[in-house]
Amino acid sequence: MDSPSRWGQERLKERSLLMLKPEAVMRGLIGNIITRVENKGLNVTALKLLKLPREKAEALYAPHKGKAFYDDLIRHVLSGPVVAAVVEGPHAISHLRRMIGSTDPAESAVGTVRGDFGLILPKNVVHASDSAESAEREIGIFFEEDELVSYEKPTESMYLL
Ligand code: CMP
Repeated sequence: MDSPSRWGQERLKERSLLMLKPEAVMRGLIGNIITRVENKGLNVTALKLLKLPREKAEALYAPHKGKAFYDDLIRHVLSGPVVAAVVEGPHAISHLRRMIGSTDPAESAVGTVRGDFGLILPKNVVHASDSAESAEREIGIFFEEDELVSYEKPTESMYLL
């Protein structure tokens, strides 16, 4: 039977797209970054490593088209493999945004992914969705709906939620 806390968890559940950029893959940081997500208590519900096709990179960064850094940004994310993940849980979007830190690694707090592993833009190690609308759009660029596998860890309801 559902407890009030489980009902609350369902109500607050969000999903976010997390992308580990080529520098994260090339520097061997995949495990460290995914471990942070798992340690936080969020669930990885889809995960793939891929070489981004140009049209997917352009779709992901369509909101930045026309900005001075756009061409460099596209060139950068096409420069090597990326890892795309769907991360799910209560307040997943805001938790992830705080865990990755400010856009500019020079301003990111120590303890965040960008603050710990980044130096300068555009090499800020990871991308994460900034809103529920962005998350749905961005997840659709990388994954088919049947590739997302939601689950509940047996200990969650007792020790986390
Ligand atoms: P991301 O979270 O992937 O979203 C857009 C990306 O553009 C951002 O991380 C940076 O990699 C890049 N970016 C944003 N602002 C700048 C900037 N001023 N100069 C260079 N790159 C930027």
